[in-house]
Amino acid sequence: LHTAYRRQRQMCIRDSVQPTGNLHLGNYLGAIKNWVELQKEFECIYCVVDLHAITIPRTPKEIHEDTLEVTAGLIASGIDPSKSVLFNQSQVPHHSELAWIFNCTAKLGWLNRMTQFKEKAGKNRENASVGLYVYPTLMAADILAYKATHVPVGQDQKQHLELTRDIASAFNSSYVEEFFPLPEPQIFDTASRVMSLRDGLSKMSKSDASDYSRINLRDSIDEISLKFKKAKSDPNPLHYSVKELEDRHEAKNLVGIYSALSKKTETEVLNEFGGKGFGAFKPALADLAVSVLEPINHDLNKLLEDKGYLIDILNKGSQKAAKVSGAVLSEVRNLVGFVR
Ligand code: TYM
Repeated sequence: LHTAYRRQRQMCIRDSVQPTGNLHLGNYLGAIKNWVELQKEFECIYCVVDLHAITIPRTPKEIHEDTLEVTAGLIASGIDPSKSVLFNQSQVPHHSELAWIFNCTAKLGWLNRMTQFKEKAGKNRENASVGLYVYPTLMAADILAYKATHVPVGQDQKQHLELTRDIASAFNSSYVEEFFPLPEPQIFDTASRVMSLRDGLSKMSKSDASDYSRINLRDSIDEISLKFKKAKSDPNPLHYSVKELEDRHEAKNLVGIYSALSKKTETEVLNEFGGKGFGAFKPALADLAVSVLEPINHDLNKLLEDKGYLIDILNKGSQKAAKVSGAVLSEVRNLVGFVR
């Protein structure tokens, strides 16, 4: 069983571009950190999803620079392009082709339920792009074009993964049973939902208007320290048990971040800091964050000095990815009945 599992493909995708252009601590702790571990054991495919990025208006310069910045961020965080496949989505046309077929498989009612569209489109839904609406069918294609079996993501992507499974099932029932695997979301216990530093009830997000709500992988040491210092908390000392933190959303989030960064359990963190106030906890958290993020920040900036190297990695990764997805698409075209 173990060998069979090893042969299965891990699919890990990262949305490349964001209004502020940065990877943040939520991406790092909720996804990238886990991807780095997974590549030691599994065949992994990592994609910078530039086609998804244009579902909201972006300038060509932003798309270009942010794609390279995310690529550098992934490598600086420990994704190894010689071990795993790292590429950008627009260089492998099979994603868009399969997404079109899935647009004809998925039902309007399924897409109408997607909360991410509602959040991103906001009140002005009539003005949102059609691409933003069908974003989840492209995401299903990102996964199924590789017949990926496991998708390590943060909590926020669970609904999209459920839709991917529905699309895979519907396709299989129309054409051939068990053609696509039903991919499993892999949501890790720690930091699967890192919250905003300004509001313990909202997710840390690239689209939050306040830069103080998130720690970006490109933030300087001073910015990291200042953001943790200014993070919303409460006047009470930390409790000694995790259960007691349940209703203290900001405190719970900061303890969760400390736990994920230090690789200690939340209980261990509270054994150390229970009874202490935020005056002591926040500087310790800032120091810890700096010790983890500073080397990544350093490597990220260094990698960005050689854009040619990053482009070469994406080009080579795209060729490798296209070999796998090309074979799957060839089967799909036959199944659908397209004449060739
Ligand atoms: P994106 O770009 O928003 O986020 C990339 C990864 O980071 C995780 N994440 C978080 N985890 C914990 N706490 C947070 N605050 C937080 N914010 C983000 C996300 O869960 C994700 O794992 N639709 C996807 C991109 C995508 C994709 C795919 C993912 C496109 N195709 C195929 C998996 C498979 C997205 O917007 O992620």
